[in-house]
Amino acid sequence: MKKDYIMPSLNDARKRNKEVSQKLLFSLDEKYKQLGEGKRYFIITHGCQANQRDSETMAGILDSLGYTSCNDEKDADVIIINTCAVRQGAEEKVLGEIGALKRLKMKNPELVIALGGCMAQEEKTVETIMEKYRQVDIIFGTHNITSLPKLLYDVYTSRKRKVEVFSKMGEIIENVPVTRFMSHKAWVNIMYGCDKFCTYCIVPYTRGKERSRDKNDIIAEVEQLKLQGYKEICLLGQNVNAYGKDLGIDYTFGDLLNDVAKTGIARIRFMTSHPWDFDDTMIEAIRNNANIMPYIHLPLQSGNSEILRKMNRRYTREEYLALFDKLKQQLPGFAFTTDIIVGFPNESDEAFEDTLSAVDHCQYDNAFTFIYSKREGTPAAMMEDYIERSVKEERLQRLNEKVAYYANKNNQRFKDQIVEVLVDGISKRNSNIYSGYTPENKLVNFSASDVKTGDLVKVKITEVMSFSLNGVMIDKDH
Ligand code: 5AD
Ligand code: SF4
Repeated sequence: MKKDYIMPSLNDARKRNKEVSQKLLFSLDEKYKQLGEGKRYFIITHGCQANQRDSETMAGILDSLGYTSCNDEKDADVIIINTCAVRQGAEEKVLGEIGALKRLKMKNPELVIALGGCMAQEEKTVETIMEKYRQVDIIFGTHNITSLPKLLYDVYTSRKRKVEVFSKMGEIIENVPVTRFMSHKAWVNIMYGCDKFCTYCIVPYTRGKERSRDKNDIIAEVEQLKLQGYKEICLLGQNVNAYGKDLGIDYTFGDLLNDVAKTGIARIRFMTSHPWDFDDTMIEAIRNNANIMPYIHLPLQSGNSEILRKMNRRYTREEYLALFDKLKQQLPGFAFTTDIIVGFPNESDEAFEDTLSAVDHCQYDNAFTFIYSKREGTPAAMMEDYIERSVKEERLQRLNEKVAYYANKNNQRFKDQIVEVLVDGISKRNSNIYSGYTPENKLVNFSASDVKTGDLVKVKITEVMSFSLNGVMIDKDH
């Protein structure tokens, strides 16, 4: 590998220190300002909400360089693929996608293909791309998004491939341009990175240490979004209840929720809470502010204490269930969802049964379920695993049936009820059908006329399915 490539190192990414992250302000060098004149870009986004929000930053940067976005990759002068590394399947999909882009590159050798996101943080991926996927011109890491102007400039001027992936912990960069993809709902980062080091998870390596944004920057962003007409914001972090801990200040996520609620924005959500540190200030804040939505995503991962210990989740089955019961009791009417992994190395039948019984206990509104995927560089990748793939698939199937049963059961309470829906848009298949979400994050498809994205409407639910509700609009709020 060439010396002037800045290559990732999962080993370096593992390191943590106690230093408070530095805050830097983004500024654009004059020489890059016309870089994109007359050129078009297309961004492909994989993965979680953090990636969605990062793609909006990439778009914002490209727009500030004079590029314009296009709706078809065939028309693009720059294609960015923002990748996810959380499971093997996501990675394979990306490699297939890059393979297919070779055709476009052959037709248009001027096309610049850039690969960013979590996969770029893995040595193994970068080596594979450099050797086998020569159509990729730029590889940039999750900490290197603000280097896009320089990387594009360097590729245009030298026609050489560029790799810039920092594995260090990263700073907080404010004032970065953003082009939001929606006009009614917005993602707001409150912290970056993760220090939890669950043994199966690659995220602490690909996204660095926990770094909280200054609360004033967060509140100012929400106020600005409200002025721009946004109806809903989602506060984002791998682990939002750790907010503020790295800053060494006496101000927690619960305090932030109270302050964000005071902005008066219509709907506030947050993602993701770790059961660890879900404190009473947070519960109080959620209960006392009507604009904090009645929906909590609380990843379980496994219902067996021994597996949870091997996962380094920091709670036992009993502790999770006690927290869940407390939330359920103190937050009536709330919807609860979770994440569950089946087939963690050497998960026994009994351990899996514990997961099923935890689902019976919690009766979630929905669950995102996954088969464990081995991530190179994580502690779990070194654990022995004799469980056959077919057993894991069968477990997933059984779990999904249970999840669907409770999803359906929970949705029954909405039958014939009038719910408030924030309209996302019109159905692609039927122009009289709109869709949107209730405060509890239930997807509603409803018939209406004269409705637009961002309207808050009242819908009478006529039909209940496991994962969505059908209804008819009866009134418009505004
Ligand atoms: N294999 C399977 N699922 C995983 N997740 C994270 N890492 C892995 C992995 N190696 C799941 C967890 C997490 C969600 C975002 O993805 O359930 O909560
Ligand atoms: Fe991964 Fe665990 Fe951090 Fe979530 S809390 S991002 S599962 S290490």
